[in-house]
Amino acid sequence: MSPENSVVLDDAYRRLSNQPHNLLKEKKTLIRVDFNVPITNGKIDDDSRIKGALPTIKYLLEHNCSIVILSHLGRPKGKIVEELRLNAVAERLQELLQITVTKLDACIGKNVQEAKKNIQPGEILLLENTRFYSEETHNIAAFARELSEDMDFFVQDAFGCVHRAHASVEGVTHFLPSMMGLLVEKEFEALKGVFVNKKKPLTLLIGGAKIDTKIGVIRNFLSIADTILIGGGLANTFFHAKGYDVKDSLVELDKAKVALGILQDAGEEACQIMLPRDFVVSKEISETAETRILDRKSGEQMEDGEKILDIGPETIKRFSNIIANSQTVIWNGPAGLFEFTPFANGTKELGKAIANNTNLTIVGGGDSVDAIHRFELDQSKFSHISTGGGAMLEFLEGKMLPGISALKKHQEL
Ligand code: 3PG
Repeated sequence: MSPENSVVLDDAYRRLSNQPHNLLKEKKTLIRVDFNVPITNGKIDDDSRIKGALPTIKYLLEHNCSIVILSHLGRPKGKIVEELRLNAVAERLQELLQITVTKLDACIGKNVQEAKKNIQPGEILLLENTRFYSEETHNIAAFARELSEDMDFFVQDAFGCVHRAHASVEGVTHFLPSMMGLLVEKEFEALKGVFVNKKKPLTLLIGGAKIDTKIGVIRNFLSIADTILIGGGLANTFFHAKGYDVKDSLVELDKAKVALGILQDAGEEACQIMLPRDFVVSKEISETAETRILDRKSGEQMEDGEKILDIGPETIKRFSNIIANSQTVIWNGPAGLFEFTPFANGTKELGKAIANNTNLTIVGGGDSVDAIHRFELDQSKFSHISTGGGAMLEFLEGKMLPGISALKKHQEL
């Protein structure tokens, strides 16, 4: 399972932690972070990603840098979306750092230029959501150049989006001497452990609702994992593909063939794919929803209007057993709609099973991390809680990560 030739496993990167004390002193430093945090009604639900970037920001403050911060939030697709402004993030960052964070309403343009020119050592500017500009996701060089203007260094600390070849992630590295920040370095070192120690059996527990992206991940893990446990909305597409009528459940009908292909390939790779045996169904999604447990193998069918919303007790037992006997467990995505109490048990119990596994346990993805907080699982019992979801999985698949590999050309600077 080791992508030996992968650039991400090569250690020769310029890192913030290795720089001579004076190099960054009083320099204008552009830092890309991933402040793509869950926000409900203007309130941040989980600030782990903001906290994750603090060591690098504090390091830069200690070195009296002038700091300009870039981040995206959500997927506004090149348009201004009011709810996706970084205002709440700026407030939270200010609270955590206990110093003023000046938030601007743009990433480029006259006001930004002016502010970047006038920024003083020890000051922080947070620019607006980079994805309000279509040039960001298209990685347009002129946009990246403008982001880099007036700056001396670029620090890559956005582990959650190093798998995106975007202007503020990859593009800027063509215009500024660039290095890896402390969070990216920490993630990099922790995740490398999976390859360096190669502890088997390796289990991937994957769930959540982002079906289209996760199907690719499952395919890639067929040659890495011994067992893939599938939960969440993702499992429904497999049930549907196998001919089970999932009624009103979340399902991607057009992915049925892909799902069947994956089940076939799993056999050839000697990777066991386990789907939920039983599940919690309900006609309603609410805190007071009436539920029932349905065993897929019992022959009992779902009723019209019912949805699959969590895994059932038998599945929890089987999945927990696999987890307990694994040397490496990677968890990405919840087993059910855990935000609602009637559908929370599967995610909670599997989270506990992973916490109780004393071998290598790695968790990533916003929802899984949110579940750890919600169910008050002891964070110290997990080997590594990643700030990346897709980025973590792509790293573990051995894929090239543009935000990291772009730093390679700076190693000799
Ligand atoms: C994430 O939440 O996984 C990262 O911030 C990347 O977001 P994206 O999938 O919208 O690129």
